[in-house]
Amino acid sequence: MKSRSNQHFPLLHLLIVASLLTVFCRCNAKKEQPKGFQNFTPGKQWPDTDSVHINAHGGGVLYHDNTYYWYGEHKSEHTSSAQVGVNCYSSKDLYNWKHEGVVLPVSDSVGSDIEAGCVMERPKVIYNAKTKKFVLYFHLELKGKGYSAARVGIAVSDKATGPFTYLRSLRPNAGVWPENMTEEQKSSKVTLDDFADWWTDEWMQAVNDGLFVRRDFEGGQMSRDMTLFVDDDGLAYHIFASEENLTLNIAELSYDYLSYTGRYIRIAPGGHNEAPAIFTKDGKYFMITSGCTGWDPNAARLFTAESIWGPWTQHPNPCIGPDADLTFHSQSTYILPVAGKKDAFIFMADRWTPKSPIDAPYIWLPIQFENGLPVLKWKDQWDLSIFDTTN
Ligand code: GAL
Repeated sequence: MKSRSNQHFPLLHLLIVASLLTVFCRCNAKKEQPKGFQNFTPGKQWPDTDSVHINAHGGGVLYHDNTYYWYGEHKSEHTSSAQVGVNCYSSKDLYNWKHEGVVLPVSDSVGSDIEAGCVMERPKVIYNAKTKKFVLYFHLELKGKGYSAARVGIAVSDKATGPFTYLRSLRPNAGVWPENMTEEQKSSKVTLDDFADWWTDEWMQAVNDGLFVRRDFEGGQMSRDMTLFVDDDGLAYHIFASEENLTLNIAELSYDYLSYTGRYIRIAPGGHNEAPAIFTKDGKYFMITSGCTGWDPNAARLFTAESIWGPWTQHPNPCIGPDADLTFHSQSTYILPVAGKKDAFIFMADRWTPKSPIDAPYIWLPIQFENGLPVLKWKDQWDLSIFDTTN
């Protein structure tokens, strides 16, 4: 006769095997789950959640409803012109990004402002809490016209992930004088024709005195490298390289962010700044820019102001250490405030690779503060915990 325990052995055995199998499968499932990134590695390839290098160059980040949205230029393998459009990625943690698709595609109609082959650079998206619309501005150059159009393109969407509807392009502030130009400068009769050569001291003085502002007064001011900024009071600003990239403009946007109020100022006339990126801390405004050397890196510049309307004061290069004079081989594009962390800002920059634009790495570095001013130091690898220990 079989014992009781013996009789139950097959059932017990089965149970043990089943639970062992469950544990084994769980471990395996855990192993197979991609762990994801837990830090930033500036200058390295940055795969999205599909393991493809993120394609969002010259971009900016919007934080909305607990999610970060990274908008940027889709770059192709062999050309920097726009073949696809504005790309969007989303993330909860800033390390791992999911491709949300192309939110503003180029057009296939010949003659469209955004016809494939045009230039769509430095796209930035802001959210308008009053109209509940997402508003996209980008630097537009018309197909086949090099960089001569110097326009801004404007598009709008009901959703962060688009699709955005293209509205129009323009040169800002046609027929309006900047707030910080004197009556004498406005009425001066000096024109470009008065100069046989550019870049002489007299020519530079004339530029400072608004030579190009007067030239472009009727048609609107040139608008190339750009960013958008929403202040605490909900007012938004378009900040862009104007006057043949010689002078930055800050222009206030209308209540719906879709046009301009006509209030604007010139910053650092003749200073040759582009790639503007701005943030505020303790009621003070900080702006990092680059010089103008095309795809080649140069030394970053830093400006501060007590009011967005200036006066803006220039400070030394905020980068410190090896390759500081080349912004660590990169060019600014945006400064991203980290949600939920006090005084935590990420400097976003591009390391352009014009021979293979699609491969260009991103340089994200934490902004640290020394004597009240932002400082950038190279890091091979870092994570957000840096903001818990510094500043
Ligand atoms: C850079 C600018 C880029 C792109 C490039 C074209 O100066 O920052 O966004 O326009 O020139 O050469």
